[in-house]
Amino acid sequence: MTIPRLEIRNIKRHFDGRAVVDDVSLKVMPGQVTCLLGPSGCGKSTTLRIIAGVDMQDSGEIYVDGKLICDTIFRVPPEARSIGLMFQDFALFPHLTVSENVAFGLTGPKKARHARVNELLERVGLTHFADSHPHQLSGGEQQRVALVRALAPRPSIMLMDEPFSGLDDRLRDDIRDETLAVLKDEGTAVLLVTHEPGEAMRMADEIALMRDGQIVQQGAPYNVYNAPKDREAAAFFSDVNVITGIVEGALTDTPFGQFLAPGVPDNTKVDIIFRPQHIKIDFDRGGRGPEPTPSDGVAAKATVERARFMGRESLVEFKMDFDGTLLKATVPSVFLPQVGTPLWLTVRRDRCFVFKH
Ligand SMILES: Nc1ncnc2c1ncn2[C@@H]1O[C@H](COP(=O)(O)OP(=O)(O)O)[C@@H](O)[C@H]1O
Ligand SMILES: [Mg+2]
Repeated sequence: MTIPRLEIRNIKRHFDGRAVVDDVSLKVMPGQVTCLLGPSGCGKSTTLRIIAGVDMQDSGEIYVDGKLICDTIFRVPPEARSIGLMFQDFALFPHLTVSENVAFGLTGPKKARHARVNELLERVGLTHFADSHPHQLSGGEQQRVALVRALAPRPSIMLMDEPFSGLDDRLRDDIRDETLAVLKDEGTAVLLVTHEPGEAMRMADEIALMRDGQIVQQGAPYNVYNAPKDREAAAFFSDVNVITGIVEGALTDTPFGQFLAPGVPDNTKVDIIFRPQHIKIDFDRGGRGPEPTPSDGVAAKATVERARFMGRESLVEFKMDFDGTLLKATVPSVFLPQVGTPLWLTVRRDRCFVFKH
């Protein structure tokens, strides 16, 4: 079995009697990017600061390559942890040149330091800026310098706290991709903190979803998105639609047909959750065509309440005939129905989640 590059076990941290990090355990495997994803204030930065050694846990242990580096008695100082840091406000040293910035944390023979700096600047296409000062660079370029400065000493682990949030939108995706490529080339294990699900899915091999100081679900982006553990986990990644039903014989009847509710006792109220892209509009039948296939369940009638053109897709809000529930659908933008249009809808039943209410 591979030993995790970083492992934290049962980390707890209280502020003013409140558990801000509440029994968090997490592994980051060599060469992998793990994203700690959760809403603002859920304890992500505190967790990272504890791992970096700039804050101290109340209980729990931290291991690097299987070796204890910190518990409540023993503590390796931050600078000896082989951890690279990159935070949102990655301040470069303004009075040092780009290459001096990158060389800052390096020790050893001058020639080797020089070679390492050159290698990294070349890797991120900034060789021509080696003798420039940070203020002469764009935001994106400064970001790349900060990245290679953190990577220069070959840390075992990179901790990154919302490192892209200072960049403007149009740059961000390219910089994320480039950063990921550099991190993968270097083979560094990465723990990246973000509150943006899109960023986590783009960057992560593994997502750890955090809420109120706890990790509620962990897995590959595909799994966390497609098999959320509860309603909140589903809703963290996109708008969701909710209809309710009552269970009878492990099934619940709804205007969209029956849904499986395995293991749920009779007479329990359940929420059926689905994302806007999993509503299908019954175009062909004009609402009255042939029977839907069993996988589509039953078509339910609705009226267009609102329709907005969003470029790549249209966002359509429907008022359901059965009880006035409003459901959101995203459909290809070639389709933009008039408000008031009656239409029949089905849902992708294989993409619905049933949770106890
Ligand atoms: N030094 C501190 N003293 C008191 N409360 C703190 C301190 N640091 C963080 N907190 C609180 O802990 C909670 C989690 O903060 P943080 O870890 O920064 O969350 P996140 O990074 O997920 O947004 C917040 O409510 C914050 O106000
Ligand atoms: Mg934070």
